[in-house]
Amino acid sequence: MTRFNSDSVVETVRQATDIVDIISQYVRLQKRGKNYLGLCPFHTEKTPSFTVNREKGLYHCFGCGVGGNVFTFLTQYERISFGEALRQLAARANISLPSFSGGKQNEVDEVLEINNTAAGYYTDMLHSNEGAAALSYLREKRQFTDETIEKFKLGYAPDRWDGLLNFLRRKGINEKDAEKSGLILGRQDGSGYYDRFRARVMFPVHSPSGRIIAFGGRTLKEDEKAKYINSPETAAYTKGRTLFGIFQAKDVIIEKDAAILVEGYADLIALHQSGIKNAVASSGTALTAEQIQYISRYTQNVYLVYDADTAGQDATLRGSDILLEQGMNVYIVELPSGEDPDTFVLSRGNEEFMKLIRDAMNIVEFKASLLTRRADSSRNQISIIQSIVESLSKINDAIKVNLYVKDLANKFGLREESIYQELRRRKSSQHRIVGQSGGGIQKASSLRLATADRDLISLLLNVDESLFEVIANQIDKLEILNPISKEIIGKIIDARRSGNAPSAVIDELSTEEVRKSFAELAFAAPQRSKVWWEEIRPESETPNYLKWIAQLLISFELEQIEQELKLLNSKTTDAEKKSLPTDDFDQQYQELVNRKQILSQTYRDKELLEQYFDNLRNS
Ligand code: CTP
Ligand code: MN
Repeated sequence: MTRFNSDSVVETVRQATDIVDIISQYVRLQKRGKNYLGLCPFHTEKTPSFTVNREKGLYHCFGCGVGGNVFTFLTQYERISFGEALRQLAARANISLPSFSGGKQNEVDEVLEINNTAAGYYTDMLHSNEGAAALSYLREKRQFTDETIEKFKLGYAPDRWDGLLNFLRRKGINEKDAEKSGLILGRQDGSGYYDRFRARVMFPVHSPSGRIIAFGGRTLKEDEKAKYINSPETAAYTKGRTLFGIFQAKDVIIEKDAAILVEGYADLIALHQSGIKNAVASSGTALTAEQIQYISRYTQNVYLVYDADTAGQDATLRGSDILLEQGMNVYIVELPSGEDPDTFVLSRGNEEFMKLIRDAMNIVEFKASLLTRRADSSRNQISIIQSIVESLSKINDAIKVNLYVKDLANKFGLREESIYQELRRRKSSQHRIVGQSGGGIQKASSLRLATADRDLISLLLNVDESLFEVIANQIDKLEILNPISKEIIGKIIDARRSGNAPSAVIDELSTEEVRKSFAELAFAAPQRSKVWWEEIRPESETPNYLKWIAQLLISFELEQIEQELKLLNSKTTDAEKKSLPTDDFDQQYQELVNRKQILSQTYRDKELLEQYFDNLRNS
């Protein structure tokens, strides 16, 4: 144990702290039996495997293996030192630490402390004589209420080269340390230091737990070239990993299960002030995958509301593709020309804004509308459709793609199948590109199985006898596409049907690669499945459990239909070339499309899923 903290203090603080409360500040957790489950904040995942247990005071991720207690969580996530985590949790629990438990600060602790001190200075200055103009700018020009100014801890950096510098000196902080925060800069010639932010309204940027990790500053001078400047990247701040307003918005994002994404500091604050409190801001940079992963811990639904100018539209086009790629549901709002969310909500109010949110477009509608407006009239529709297909090719979810393809087909009077054909063409060329960049030798790691395959395998390994037969019968009728999955699944079904232990399967598998895949699954799956096992409670055949099985089986059937459609399509093309009749093919094609439609509908409907399952059981 570290020198400064006696075990008993640490233990007292640990016991006074609810790990679920703390981690909930960063991760959207849902109760599953005794555990809480969410998307792991330490690696990228789409199905939750990050588990927190209140009684044990522990967390563990079945996906990437991280784990620990509330102290390790904070040191890993916030990158603060153990001592700082202890101090913060003690303060939160109103436990006074013995004075010797200072501990050594790391650089993140130091930057946070300086930022915090500076924020106090900036807010004091805003309410001083020197800040009068800034305060009236916020109140009159921006129409921020005093409550809003307080809530976002807005401040003012005075028009001086040494305002903050002198303040920090008086607090006994030396310049060398202060420089680490980026708020103080060293002069080129080594003759001293000066303030980065001068004559600016200050917007503190908070971490999800409310620590001030950086500042943005807006100039009050009309002739100043840089309207906004920001803290540089520091130990505590990475711009591409930060969303302005996440601290103030996260609870409401969880509650509404949606986030409204805007660009600017003022946009965000104006929305919050008008009561739209699930807004966050990307702060003018191109949206990054890391920012999206941040949001995805709280919700999958994002409304993009960028400025109504060409730059804003381009940012929306780029942003929505990245959002789709990250598995998010994207809804796009276009503001009237010349407006940004700030000006819109100030002049038209909350209700008008919410109306736009309700009428938000999906990616197909948005691109069709924007690109048609942008195209000169002579330009044909093909490139617009191509561009939409390009976006759809980023989506990694067959059901979602299916819905968008329907929209696209309707909008442009296309056959769905020709859209799928184009999608497949793009996907296979994407794969080729990825494959080629890997160099000569094909690596065995390409055997990683899809989630659905893995789920099906662990289901077959674990499910009760009665359900096993239902599932196995359905699988008999399907063609599993991945050859590795197919072999493993076939062998498990054979083994169980002949009364062998599934572990015996391992001796029968054809190659080392397949054996490895199976072993990995056999060991990993029961652990991972513990999570969804608990969630869906197989023992009692709960509706959730059956629903989940039904969805899994449907996803395999849909995959197979896609294959058959592809096959039929080439048969039809062949027949047409040879001037043979295609009526049979056309009819089969239509039947498959109908079946696909029914399945997609079933997938989304609780009652239809139950019916689907009953049919399997009775057939
Ligand atoms: N931004 C930034 N650094 C810059 C420029 C812009 O961080 N050098 C961010 C800020 O968060 C800003 C946002 O990008 O709020 C959008 O910039 P812009 O549209 O130029 O400004 P507005 O927010 O509309 O500015 P205002 O309403 O204050 O005039
Ligand atoms: Mn603005």
